[in-house]
Amino acid sequence: MDTSVNGAPSPAPDDPGLSAADHLRDRLGLTGTKIACGSGVCGACTILVDGAPTASCLLPADHLTGRSTTTVEGLDGLHPAQRALAAHDGLQCGYCTPGFAVEASVFVDTWRAEHGDTRPDRAAVADALAGHLCRCGAYEGIFAAVAAACAGEFDTEPDQAPPRSDAPDKVTGRARFSADHAPPGTWEGVIVRSKVPHARVAKVSADPGPDGSPPPLVDLLGEERVVRYVGQAIAAVAAPTRALARELAEAVRVDLDPLPSVTDPRAATAPDAPVLYRTKEERDAAPAYGEAPTPPAPWNGNLRGPGVISWRGPTAVARLRAAGRRRDPLLVAEEYTTAAQVHSPLEPHVSVASWVDGDLYLHVSTQSVGKIADKAASRWELPRERVHLVAEYVGGGFGAKNSLSPDVVAAVELARVTGHPVRVSLDRSEELTDAGYRPGTRTRVALLAGGDGSLRALSVDSYGDGGVSVGSSTAALAALMYGRSPRRVRDYDVVTNRPPGEPMRGPGGPPMAWALEQAVDAMAHRLGEDPLALRRRWDGNPKRQALYERVADLPLWRDRPRGARTGRFRRGVGMAAAGWPYLLAPDARVELAVEGGSLVVRSATQDIGTGIRAVLGGVVSERLGVDAADLRVEIGRSSSVHGTGSFGSRTTTSMGPAAVDAADRLREALRERSPDVPASGPVPEHVLKEALAAAEGVSVVGERRRDRWGQLTPNMGDLAVGRGMSGAVHVMEVEVDTRLGRVRPTRCWAGIAAGRVYQERLARNQCEGAVVQGVGYALHEERRDDPATGVVLSDDLEDYRLPGMGDVPETEVYFHEEGFEHVVGGGIGLGEVSVVGVAAALGNAVHDATGWRPHDLPLRPDRLIGGLR
Ligand code: FES
Repeated sequence: MDTSVNGAPSPAPDDPGLSAADHLRDRLGLTGTKIACGSGVCGACTILVDGAPTASCLLPADHLTGRSTTTVEGLDGLHPAQRALAAHDGLQCGYCTPGFAVEASVFVDTWRAEHGDTRPDRAAVADALAGHLCRCGAYEGIFAAVAAACAGEFDTEPDQAPPRSDAPDKVTGRARFSADHAPPGTWEGVIVRSKVPHARVAKVSADPGPDGSPPPLVDLLGEERVVRYVGQAIAAVAAPTRALARELAEAVRVDLDPLPSVTDPRAATAPDAPVLYRTKEERDAAPAYGEAPTPPAPWNGNLRGPGVISWRGPTAVARLRAAGRRRDPLLVAEEYTTAAQVHSPLEPHVSVASWVDGDLYLHVSTQSVGKIADKAASRWELPRERVHLVAEYVGGGFGAKNSLSPDVVAAVELARVTGHPVRVSLDRSEELTDAGYRPGTRTRVALLAGGDGSLRALSVDSYGDGGVSVGSSTAALAALMYGRSPRRVRDYDVVTNRPPGEPMRGPGGPPMAWALEQAVDAMAHRLGEDPLALRRRWDGNPKRQALYERVADLPLWRDRPRGARTGRFRRGVGMAAAGWPYLLAPDARVELAVEGGSLVVRSATQDIGTGIRAVLGGVVSERLGVDAADLRVEIGRSSSVHGTGSFGSRTTTSMGPAAVDAADRLREALRERSPDVPASGPVPEHVLKEALAAAEGVSVVGERRRDRWGQLTPNMGDLAVGRGMSGAVHVMEVEVDTRLGRVRPTRCWAGIAAGRVYQERLARNQCEGAVVQGVGYALHEERRDDPATGVVLSDDLEDYRLPGMGDVPETEVYFHEEGFEHVVGGGIGLGEVSVVGVAAALGNAVHDATGWRPHDLPLRPDRLIGGLR
């Protein structure tokens, strides 16, 4: 039988060492098939082999011989499932999307053959797509899309353009991510990593290869010849194929002198524990996992801190101590812990580098195109304009892709040494070991209420467990909640010889809420009060007050079960509040140019799934009254005007106003040439056409203007703190199986107060995804390592479990859009505030259902069963 791919004859695979995915991608150029986990867990690489969905990352390439293969490109973008995914925004970054589209196409066809145009229920869709993971958590849109496609709603092209302008490219596999940009002749780089937790590296060397010459080997350690954790990058090698590069990496000799190590945080604070950082220089150079610059704090051995925030702190402490002595029933003092959560973007860290005539060309999966290009220029001593960095599509980041990481350095150095383009792509084990994580925490919280039910004192002490890194802000964030009652909060870090954390979506926020919001719930029970009523009394934040008002009328809350519940399955409803600082990027810029009679919107920002590409196009189109389809939006290139990084909930609130300003400036420029262009409002189509023809080559740059009340801080490297905080309230319903210890989140209401929302569907998608990530944090995700060796054990997506479609609640998002009228554009970021309270709401729901309060995350079945006993 002939071998065919996408309906056309194809040469039979000739390299049995290749996987089917590698063959399709690298030999046939069908890069729509993505590789994410490499172990058949996530579904991103799904193809059809003789019509059957198959994980191509596990399939040897020669199994395609004599078969008919269909990749996402073979669906032609015309399958109803693809149209529906785009229309219902069943995607964010788009990295998982081709796999979903391929599998969904089969399910939709099969369903319709068996059931006609009926709509499958949520459980049927979840079952059908159980082999697929979306780390962005775009499941609500996927549920809606697949059901609609089954019901025959997308048999023809819909009239309306999809809400996400790049959705058509993502559902068809046309969107090219960094790894897809490897030109012919690209070599593969592999990083050599430490196998010991602490050592001084004396020498790194490699024996000559089969051809008698030493392999290309570059050093990644820098001046300090010390490794401090298993998995730390030491060197890198390259070869024409990845298999060969791996062999070479195995053969690299690392001569080292072992140093004493400590991999357990409790052991690290013992008086005789080996100390990781002995000098001030070493301590100052410790990696940081906070989002903002790490404030100074004292060190004592491996314990850093406390970083203290205090408001009438001595009063708070005196009141809490006195209450403890007299065993005051209105004192809630508890300890909560959280596990490390790994960012796990489905697109791993990957870089493709090449040098051409002294210029550096880079494709990097990054959240910060401009910053990484700046750093590359500085590191390799190049004029900035000679660094050409592109990140057109980025498969998620969540905070992990914001530095000049070892994959970038290795690719650039190896490209220089070999004279070839070099691609360095982390495999899933590397991604889960040394690409960042949200550190685990141990947090003690104490709340004291007065006889009148008021909050009289609050204290929080939190210990971050970020391996070799520091930067706990868990306690500090608690200081921003519940008014101005006396309070003292203290943050510590315990350093160990384990990999470093990185800032992860709302750094410090989810562990803070897990402790504080459950303690508030416990206090409500002590006071015999409705948890909502208590928050309404204690919380002075007007935005959350608006959300509380909404919750009071919410059937999910109002009609929740009351009293003790019995039986195996018990339903409960819990809530949690959250807030997040307003960050912005004062230097954000957007260029608007007239090129070839069209409008081009440009900026060196990037879209990691947040939808900024659609936001920029939408803003300009709305401001000028032109069709978004007539605009070209070019982002993700370092050569463009400065665009901000995609982190700190600051992208849209910074880039959106700059785009408005650009549109206004362009209008003025057009009016100078074409007086028929109106001073405001939509530009009629025929007027615009003539005006653009007269303005060919014109380019303007819009800026992010200052807010009406200014900023709380000066500009700190394109980062400033604005006035006001966003708010959120989550209400979660769960069903607890008390026999098997399983918690099933069934419904969630997410109320978000971040001012004006730029693109409603895209914003909602982001908040729905935050619920998915919060559920993962609460129930499934746990980075485990071996305390004896420091080796990360949960280094694949079997052992590090991400939530799938069957794990998540049906989610409704509500936006309260008032309260930020002083902000240019009227709205601030919502990516972080939307994740902070999810796990805490779930914890409170479990308590409501069972009467037992969970203290440790993740809430595994063994913990729940043990707790209920
Ligand atoms: Fe699914 Fe990003 S859209 S992983």
